[in-house]
Amino acid sequence: MRGVERDAPIGVFDSGVGGLTVVSRLFETLPNESILYVADQAHVPYGGRDLSEIRCFALGITSALFAAGCKAVVMACNISSAVAMDAAEKEHAPLLVVGVIRYGAARATQKTRNRKIGVLTTEGTRNSGAYTQELHRIDPLLEVTEVACPQFVPLVEAGQSLSREAFDVAEAYLAPILRGEADTVILGCTHYPYLLSVLRELAPTVQFIDPAEATIEAVSLSLFQKDLLRDTPASSLLTTTGDAEAFCQKAPLFLTSREDLEFASATWNGERLILPFSSKV
Ligand code: DGL
Repeated sequence: MRGVERDAPIGVFDSGVGGLTVVSRLFETLPNESILYVADQAHVPYGGRDLSEIRCFALGITSALFAAGCKAVVMACNISSAVAMDAAEKEHAPLLVVGVIRYGAARATQKTRNRKIGVLTTEGTRNSGAYTQELHRIDPLLEVTEVACPQFVPLVEAGQSLSREAFDVAEAYLAPILRGEADTVILGCTHYPYLLSVLRELAPTVQFIDPAEATIEAVSLSLFQKDLLRDTPASSLLTTTGDAEAFCQKAPLFLTSREDLEFASATWNGERLILPFSSKV
């Protein structure tokens, strides 16, 4: 195995801009770290795709990030974590691969008082059963209501998170969860934190859990324990497999302010993802 370098970037990926919620938290928690981000916008939305296809994308991106020298890879994407986490961990051990489902589920079980948990998620993640399985692994007596929200990702990618349409579809998606009296709801897709103000207005007594929070705490602890945290700040590189120009305009709107960002294209070549070389990461 190659040596892992303290100054190497942390790889993070998602199907689109949603994973920038995780990147924002990383910047807040570990401001010295350099991030190498992949938005697989050539394939967004992942949610309605075949699970074996998503597994292939997730494993291809993870391999490319490690090949680019990353010291850890965060599968910010819930559906990728649902279908590819175990295989990625096996393939890249002992390198650190972290997914959001394990930590989001654990945080929700710590927070619920009535042991009724809702999960808002994409069709693919719901069909994988990963959240319900993980929640029941922790506490078999939990009542879990998982709802697929296929209209959320296109609304967020289009910058329509606060629109009337977002409000109406959110009301419909929340209805079965509120009927089930869940006191805690997991935002089971990285795009959903952008809808938080709408969701809170519709369900003011519910605690919404963003899995990114517990995930980044775990990454931070693990890198600290391995003595792999950077001492000085560095720039970050955000790449997309889609339209780089549009991504460069849009991405900063989804991030808490951070100036030292570079943007570039990443390209699929069959099942291999080719990442651009950058001297700064
Ligand atoms: N943001 C991804 C997730 O967390 C998937 C969204 C999509 O592309 O459907 O699952």
